Amino acid sequence: MDTVFLNGAFLPVAAARISPLDRGFLFADAVYEVIPVYGSRLFLWTPHYARLERSLAALDLKNPYRESDWHRLLAHLIEVNGGGDLSVYLEVTRGTEPVRDHRIPADLAPTVFALTQPALPPDPALEAQGMTVVLRPDFRWQRCDIKSTALLANVLLRESAREVGAGEALLVRDGCVLEGTSSNVLALHGNTVSSPPDGPLLLAGVTRDLVLELAEQSGFRTRRRTLTADDLGTAHEVWLTSTRRILAPVTRIEGRPVGSGRPGPAYQRIRAAFQKRLQAFLEAPPPSA
Ligand code: PDD
Repeated sequence: MDTVFLNGAFLPVAAARISPLDRGFLFADAVYEVIPVYGSRLFLWTPHYARLERSLAALDLKNPYRESDWHRLLAHLIEVNGGGDLSVYLEVTRGTEPVRDHRIPADLAPTVFALTQPALPPDPALEAQGMTVVLRPDFRWQRCDIKSTALLANVLLRESAREVGAGEALLVRDGCVLEGTSSNVLALHGNTVSSPPDGPLLLAGVTRDLVLELAEQSGFRTRRRTLTADDLGTAHEVWLTSTRRILAPVTRIEGRPVGSGRPGPAYQRIRAAFQKRLQAFLEAPPPSA
């Protein structure tokens, strides 16, 4: 995982250099994506790329590459890093300016950076016992739909969960549970899987969308609706979704068990449906073949 991409070049991470006057460094004036890779191929590329375009547009940043160029350069990065199962992190900043200035200069060349990171190893404790989460007041900004690198609030909130032995903090604003610090939240009541509606206060998760699709195909009803802490308290199952962890069963919220207090049968079904979808992806010939 040693080779990174920076502004058109593939080079060892130790040789990669970015100016301290990069607006990504000075102002977090930057967006990012994390894309899963299975069998050396980008999985769910289309929705991840669509979200990258939305994030860039929200910052009024010009997309530095065409979609086919992005795909080609990331495929090369995956290959030179040995391929297999991993994830790609990519970041586009507004670029380096001559002096620190809040005002956005015209015509800066963006900084484009990408690296690969190993897939998370399976977590038998998570499979067997599920995850403990806590609730925290959401003190992030009001454009959480942008996949911005300004993640200090997410980092501090995640740390406050870790300090009490929890794996994630679910963020609550005006009584609504919106999402985790780096995951989306879904709740099962009876046969219905619910997740909060998209809007400026949460990130539209690609994994969440796939899980909702798989839930429908597996015979569940799905709903986009506001979830309160009480809704989570009465849920039979609660799950978190994210690119790297895929689907995680939540079995304890603020010390209280969710449903049976163990990963539930619906979780097992959706997890199996995901595995099946992945298998079909791995067996399908690559689009260019
Ligand atoms: N985070 N919500 C937030 C705030 C996130 O940061 C993420 C993902 C998600 C889940 O989105 P997706 O299913 O598209 O990965 C929801 C990435 C993985 C990260 O910051 O590393």
